[in-house]
Amino acid sequence: MADYDFDVLVIGAGPGGYVAAIRAAQLGLKTGCVESRETLGGTCLNVGCIPSKAMLHASEFYDHAANGMMAKMGIKVTPELDLDTMHGQRKDAVKQLTGGIEFLFKKNKVEWLKGHAAFTAADTVQVGDRSVRAKNIVIATGSSVVPLPGVEIDQKVVVDSTGALELPKVPGQMVVIGGGVIGLELGSVWRRLGAKVTVVEFLDQILPGFDGEVRKESNKILKKQGIEFKLSTKVTGVTVKDGKATLTLEPAAGGTAETIEADTVLVSIGRKPNTAGLALDRAGLATNQRGQIEIDHDFRTSVPGIWAVGDVVPGPMLAHKAEDEGIAVAENIAGQHGIVNHDVIPSVVYTWPEIAGVGLTEEAAKERGEVKVGKFPMLANSRAKTNHEPDGFVKVITDAKTDRVLGVWCIASVAGTMIAQAAQAMEFGATSEDIAYTCHAHPTHSEAIKEAAMAVTGKPIHI
Ligand code: FAD
Ligand code: NAI
Repeated sequence: MADYDFDVLVIGAGPGGYVAAIRAAQLGLKTGCVESRETLGGTCLNVGCIPSKAMLHASEFYDHAANGMMAKMGIKVTPELDLDTMHGQRKDAVKQLTGGIEFLFKKNKVEWLKGHAAFTAADTVQVGDRSVRAKNIVIATGSSVVPLPGVEIDQKVVVDSTGALELPKVPGQMVVIGGGVIGLELGSVWRRLGAKVTVVEFLDQILPGFDGEVRKESNKILKKQGIEFKLSTKVTGVTVKDGKATLTLEPAAGGTAETIEADTVLVSIGRKPNTAGLALDRAGLATNQRGQIEIDHDFRTSVPGIWAVGDVVPGPMLAHKAEDEGIAVAENIAGQHGIVNHDVIPSVVYTWPEIAGVGLTEEAAKERGEVKVGKFPMLANSRAKTNHEPDGFVKVITDAKTDRVLGVWCIASVAGTMIAQAAQAMEFGATSEDIAYTCHAHPTHSEAIKEAAMAVTGKPIHI
């Protein structure tokens, strides 16, 4: 290894970075991982996927008890909220899972370099008072919250997702700026626990990037649950006085402004790649217009020996996408053939019901050619009906000529779990007929995927 400290040095220990480090070590490479946070696991484990799901899961039980779902099943309860305990189980999940990554680092002999990394040359980074040279450097520095110009996030009245996970009491009125994934998930948590929630979205519909019909139906379902939506509306200002916020809203197309008041404002208008402080210029690297580090199909940047994965590179900002890229980049560094199929990355919104999709939306598929679409309502799925979960549907989109599946979309209580079989089918190049003739266990929500596939040729059984 001559005078290199590591074969592979990963910067950032989120799902992209920690997975890359573990795989590199498994492949026999001497590996280090720099992380400036107190704990490993990045955004996902510390302030993202895991704590949000802990609050979503717990608040779902509360909602089922408070809003008649349990009563429908003959269980009479009047729930009492113990928010401290709810937060406690969230923190406990984070502690256990971040600790688990530390254990895996030790098990795989990945050295954790604690501190902030900045390049001093293309093969060298400075971490505290240590200069570290590595044959390969993987940038996996992730992303952080996009601020709203002129709006200060004080984490008390105006919060970002991290603050919204930790509110010490249920707000009376919460205004969510941005009807994307974070806004809908965290808005749902506090609505379930008793807040009045209004979501202000700039576009004419929530969930940009999702299938059009799914966006519309999700909006309808969440509205029915009590979330208020102000679509085609932009927030142009937020002022805070005596612990209360006043927001100025304007129609996106221009027009008369209105104001609304809130006890808590959640700013969730997107995330941006983390590159500030990395001194990329000293490595000979630059970012693109969106602040991302460009890579090729193998995750190489324009500088030999420097690679990048996860939220800091183009593509959806999702933990499983980052993880798969982490595995692939390590395999490529080791001389193997690491590949990620970016056409088949599932997306899940963990509301109730869940909203999930993989592949093309119907709109995008139609732009490419003639399609066939099969749909099946969850109301006609025996398990969903029995469980009092009538909302939602499954939609299978195929190429009209070849029948190959191009996209699958689900709104169902367990859509996040159901979408895995669609992703696997698409990875194997399945047709709707392949799915329709695969035996699915009964009674399961997944039968709705089979029936939607059968509906592509007009032959579902149960509608
Ligand atoms: P990150 O997880 O952001 O990790 C990067 C790490 O690098 C950080 O720990 C940071 O401290 C460290 N770092 C940065 N710069 C340096 C430096 N110079 N030196 C040392 N360390 C550095 N995705 C899903 O797929 N499912 C979900 O349910 C989901 N829920 C989410 C909920 C919320 C509230 C949020 C905010 C995000 C959620 N995401 C979810 C997105 C997911 O968290 C990210 O896509 C994922 O964490 C990206 O992984 P990453 O490894 O690229 O970066
Ligand atoms: P997002 O990009 O999903 O949604 C932001 C929304 O804000 C958009 O709909 C946009 O039109 C709107 N917006 C922007 N400016 C606005 C303004 N001034 N006024 C009103 N609306 C405005 O971003 P979000 O929700 O912050 O999430 C960031 C990332 O985190 C996403 O890319 C997502 O992939 C990831 N994430 C994933 C989760 C999951 O997989 N379940 C959960 C949470 C986050």
